Amino acid sequence: MTKIAPSILSADFAVLGSEIASICSADYLHFDVMDGVFVPNLSIGIPVLESVRKVTDMTLDVHLMIDRPVRYVKRFADAGADIVVFHLEADEPQNTLEAIRIVKECGKKVGLALKPKTPASALIPYLSRLDMALVMTVEPGFGGQVFMENQMEKVTAVRKMITDAGLVCDVEVDGGINRKTAPVCVKAGANVLAAGSSVFGEKDRAAAIRELRG
Ligand code: DX5
Ligand code: ZN
Repeated sequence: MTKIAPSILSADFAVLGSEIASICSADYLHFDVMDGVFVPNLSIGIPVLESVRKVTDMTLDVHLMIDRPVRYVKRFADAGADIVVFHLEADEPQNTLEAIRIVKECGKKVGLALKPKTPASALIPYLSRLDMALVMTVEPGFGGQVFMENQMEKVTAVRKMITDAGLVCDVEVDGGINRKTAPVCVKAGANVLAAGSSVFGEKDRAAAIRELRG
């Protein structure tokens, strides 16, 4: 079944508790962390994650858009992340492997994210260790951007690599996901849909989530 992961980047941070309660029928809560270095924007970090952890039992899918994530993955795992996802463009392969190891040692799930220009093949050295592969369908950094349909080939390629290797691994898409683009992603092989504006931009969030689930 398709899992929906509303991105709190599009929520009203002044009333974050009730915003989270409004999307509790979803599967994961997608938590976007930006450092102003890996992406040209800043968002939220560890103190907010600790507060969110206290008010929800939802699976927290933490998407780190930060430079050299190996420095921080343990702190995000300890702060309450259930899945720690970071970008493979954000450091050297050796540090990426080390970050994966640290997250697993913390007993958490781990994922790697790919920017639009990064090919599916870049995942090969890591795939067997992953619980999630995140294919960005916009350039990371901002909510509300237009879906890049040209990433669908990559989604299909990643799904094929996982199936061929007999692995169990979520394939998540993130960016521009709405009622029109969601079925395109699912058809291509995605099973987790991160969506910000198309959920938090709607008054009836439960209905928005149902519609995305298809
Ligand atoms: C963008 C973030 C996304 C963002 C998606 O860099 O990683 O999770 O919140 O927002 P929408 O769904 O509005 O494109
Ligand atoms: Zn994200």
